[in-house]
Amino acid sequence: MSEIRPIEWANGTLRLLDQTLLPSQEVIVEAHGYLEAVDAIKTMRVRGAPAIGVTAAYAVAMAARELDSPDRDRFLQRLAEAGAVIKAARPTAVNLMWAVDRMVALANTQSGIADIRERLMSEAITIEKEDEAINRKMGSHGKELMPDGGSVLTHCNAGALATAAFGTAVGVIRAGWEDGKRFKVFNTETRPFLQGARLTAWEFKQLGIPSTLIVDSAAGMLMRRGEIGCVITGADRIAANGDTANKIGTYTLAVLAKENGIPFYVAAPISTVDLSLSNGDEIEIEQRSQTEVTEFRGVRIAPDGVEALNPGFDVTPARYVSAIITEAGVARPPYTDSLALAAKAAR
Ligand code: MRU
Repeated sequence: MSEIRPIEWANGTLRLLDQTLLPSQEVIVEAHGYLEAVDAIKTMRVRGAPAIGVTAAYAVAMAARELDSPDRDRFLQRLAEAGAVIKAARPTAVNLMWAVDRMVALANTQSGIADIRERLMSEAITIEKEDEAINRKMGSHGKELMPDGGSVLTHCNAGALATAAFGTAVGVIRAGWEDGKRFKVFNTETRPFLQGARLTAWEFKQLGIPSTLIVDSAAGMLMRRGEIGCVITGADRIAANGDTANKIGTYTLAVLAKENGIPFYVAAPISTVDLSLSNGDEIEIEQRSQTEVTEFRGVRIAPDGVEALNPGFDVTPARYVSAIITEAGVARPPYTDSLALAAKAAR
């Protein structure tokens, strides 16, 4: 099976598998400058927290190549300004801010502009490689939680497409499957952007893992009937206490899981853990266009003039989360202690 890698740096260009066109078309879009990379994040050609982080790292490296100044300090100032533009592309996934901060901090340790340019490009490549290695580690920790027999439900797309390769929640499912465990996989369509129907279902097909697509609102009924053994999702930002922001609808699934006595797992790298936030109320939630709700592929589906609300994410309080799988292992409640320890171990 060939690995799905949605981001590639080749011949001075950032090549991205356009996730707005999948699964009907597999098209590579090229970002020639850092602002084109920012645009690809904004328009969701590349999406998913770790993939946004990797793209942001390349965007900083590209900005360093594009910007010029005879003076190192002025150059670093302009690079920081470009970093602020990159960070503003989307608000919720902290991997974006994490990657930009790591790159800009590294630039500040370099003595000359040529060194900065060279070092930042090699760091972006490192961040991409690290992401795949981290996901494989998460898979090896998380596969123990996957059932042999029974079933697993996942939401949105937390697969290879949302990362450099392998995926987070889908990576754990894959690792369990590659370990020889056999279980039924359900994935939600994930209204309104349909990351589940378009992307996760496509990935499971590529992986040769049979999956069943359900509408988001079917999950409760399946759980009540005993057809879901556990739920596993990715995350866009996890506060120090374990409150988890992820794709809209995740909170609903977590509450339903608890009501039905089903474990609810989150798989995310430490770069998604924001220890600066004590709880999830402090996480900024992206508000997306009304037309994603009132239209389907450009065709109006709601009466003219109807108002729609379209939050892209929600926050699941930590009390609904049975475990958080990171590259440092499986963290259990109380998360204020276990996530701090995991973050320390990952450093
Ligand atoms: O709006 P998206 O598609 O970027 O949202 C993606 C998610 O919510 C994912 O579940 C999350 O980023 C984890 S990806 C490994």
